[in-house]
Amino acid sequence: MGCDRNCGLITGAVIGAVLAVFGGILMPVGDMLIQKTIKKEVVLEEGTTAFKNWVKTGTEIYRQFWIFDVQNPQEVMMNSSNIQVKQRGPYTYRVRFLAKENITQDPKDNTVSFLQPNGAIFEPSLSVGTEADNFTVLNLAVAAAAHIYPNPFVQVVLNSLINKSKSSMFQVRTLRELLWGYTDPFLSLVPYPVTTTVGMFYPYNNTVDGVYKVFNGKDSISKVAIIDTYKGKRNLSYWESYCDMINGTDAASFPPFVEKSQVLQFFSSDICRSIYAVFESDVNLKGIPVYRFVLPSKAFASPVQNPDNHCFCTEKIISKNCTSSGVLDISKCKEGKPVYISLPHFLYASPDVSETTDGLNPNEEEHRTYLDIEPITGFTLQFAKRLQVNILVKPSNKIQVLKRLKRNYIVPILWLNEVCIFSC
Ligand SMILES: *[C@@H]1O[C@H](CO)[C@@H](O)[C@H](O)[C@H]1NC(C)=O
Ligand SMILES: *[C@@H]1O[C@H](CO)[C@@H](O)[C@H](O)[C@H]1NC(C)=O
Ligand SMILES: *[C@@H]1O[C@H](CO)[C@@H](O)[C@H](O)[C@H]1NC(C)=O
Ligand SMILES: *[C@@H]1O[C@H](CO)[C@@H](O)[C@H](O)[C@H]1NC(C)=O
Ligand SMILES: *[C@@H]1O[C@H](CO)[C@@H](O)[C@H](O)[C@H]1NC(C)=O
Ligand SMILES: *[C@@H]1O[C@H](CO)[C@@H](O)[C@H](O)[C@H]1NC(C)=O
Ligand SMILES: *[C@@H]1O[C@H](CO)[C@@H](O)[C@H](O)[C@H]1NC(C)=O
Ligand SMILES: *[C@@H]1O[C@H](CO)[C@@H](O)[C@H](O)[C@H]1NC(C)=O
Repeated sequence: MGCDRNCGLITGAVIGAVLAVFGGILMPVGDMLIQKTIKKEVVLEEGTTAFKNWVKTGTEIYRQFWIFDVQNPQEVMMNSSNIQVKQRGPYTYRVRFLAKENITQDPKDNTVSFLQPNGAIFEPSLSVGTEADNFTVLNLAVAAAAHIYPNPFVQVVLNSLINKSKSSMFQVRTLRELLWGYTDPFLSLVPYPVTTTVGMFYPYNNTVDGVYKVFNGKDSISKVAIIDTYKGKRNLSYWESYCDMINGTDAASFPPFVEKSQVLQFFSSDICRSIYAVFESDVNLKGIPVYRFVLPSKAFASPVQNPDNHCFCTEKIISKNCTSSGVLDISKCKEGKPVYISLPHFLYASPDVSETTDGLNPNEEEHRTYLDIEPITGFTLQFAKRLQVNILVKPSNKIQVLKRLKRNYIVPILWLNEVCIFSC
C-alpha cells in the first residue's frame, strides 16, 4: 500500500522536518523563522501547502473489512448456543479519493465550509476474495424490526411476514450486498415500508458527509482545522451534556506544534461522537520523526472506571447499569436500529460483552487505533482507525425465529481498518 508520487501532505511534512533540523542549528533566530513559515503554510486557504492536500488527499486511503462468518446459525437459533464466528478478510476498498465539494470561505469568522463526498472502489489485489463471496450473517432487517417495534401485536404481524418471506435469524449474503445494500424479502412484504434496501453502509456512493465548517486558521493558527459546526450544529443531539459536543478536528491534521502532553480531540461521524488520542511513543517514519497517538482504553471504559463516560451510557440492560465497558450504543444516530460500536474483537470490553460469541481473539497490535502525527505541522502522516459494528438481538415470544433465544446477543457483523501506510 503506497501513496501517490505527488504527496502534498508528505511534502508539507518533509518541509516541516527539514525546518526542524535547521531550527536546531539556528535557534533562536531559526525557530522564529520556522514558526512563521509553518503558521503561513498550514492555513486553509488557496495557495498554502496544507490547502492543496486538504481539498483532495494526496495519499491513498483504504478501508479493509473483515466479516464475521457465522459457523452455527441453526444451533444459535434453536438452542441459544454461543455464536461461533470465523473472520474472513481483508476485503479492501479505496476510500476518500474524492475532492471536497462546495468549499466556501467565510472571512467574517475565519472558517471554511465543505462537503466530503463518499466513494468506495473495490481493490481485488488487496483482498482475499471477491465482492461475490458469501457469508452467513445476522438477518439485519429481522433484528432491527424486532427492536424498533417491541409492541406484541405488531410483532405478531412482523412474524407472519418474516415467515411468509422465508426469512430466518441468519441469512447468506455476498460481501457486496452486506456492505452496500440488497433488497430485503421480509421488508418487501411490509405495507408502506420506510425502505426495502438494507446494508451495513447503505447508502454510500453518491452521498456526502457534512456540511463541515472548520476554522481556516487565519486569525489564530491554534484553531486551524478544528470543527466549528457539523451539519450546521455545534452539538450532535445524540448524547446528554458534554458527550454531545463536536470537538477537535477530523483527525486528518491537528493545529501545528503538537506536544506530547496534549490530548488530541477529534470527531468521527462513523462512531457518532467526539473522541481523543494520547501520546504513546516516538516513531521514525523513514527519517521523519513523528508522535504516535493512540486511543486509550480509558476512552471505552465504563462510567465506573471513567466517570467522564457517564453520558455515553444510554441504556441499562446491555451496559449492566453502566458497569460494562467497551460497547457504544449508537442507535439514536442510526434511526433506532440497535447498532453497537466497539473495537475489533471487543478489545478492552468487559467479558460479559463477548460471552455469547466464540472465535474472537482481541489484541492491541491488530485492533487498536493510532495516529502518527508530524508534530511541527500537525499533519497525520500514517494512521489505522479500527472499529467493529455489532447488532443487538433480544429474544422475542412473538417472533418465531427469535423465540428460542434465552439471552441477549451482541452479534459482531464486521470490523474495519481505515488505513494510510506511510510509504512514498
Ligand atoms: C440442540 O441441542 C440438542 C440437544 O443437545 C441437539 O440434539 C440438537 O442437535 C441441537 N440442535 C441444533 C440445531 O444444533
Ligand atoms: C453544493 O453546491 C451545488 C452547486 O453550487 C449546489 O447545487 C448544492 O446544493 C450544494 N450542496 C449542498 C449540500 O449544499
Ligand atoms: C461506487 O462507485 C465506484 C466507482 O466510483 C464503483 O466502482 C463501485 O462499484 C460503486 N459501489 C457501489 C456499491 O455501487
Ligand atoms: C454466493 O451465493 C450465490 C447464491 O447461492 C451464488 O450464485 C454465488 O456463486 C456465490 N458466490 C461465490 C463466490 O461462490
Ligand atoms: C411458517 O409457519 C408455518 C406454520 O407455523 C411453519 O410450518 C413454517 O415452518 C414456517 N416457515 C418458516 C420459514 O419459518
Ligand atoms: C452543546 O452542549 C454543551 C454541553 O452540554 C452546552 O454547554 C452548549 O451550550 C451546547 N451548545 C449548543 C449550541 O447547544
Ligand atoms: C469536548 O470538549 C470539552 C472541552 O474541552 C470537554 O469538556 C468535553 O468533555 C468534550 N466532549 C467530548 C465528547 O469529547
Ligand atoms: C440495575 O439497577 C437497578 C436498580 O438499582 C436494579 O433493580 C437492577 O437489577 C440492576 N440491573 C442490573 C442488570 O444490574
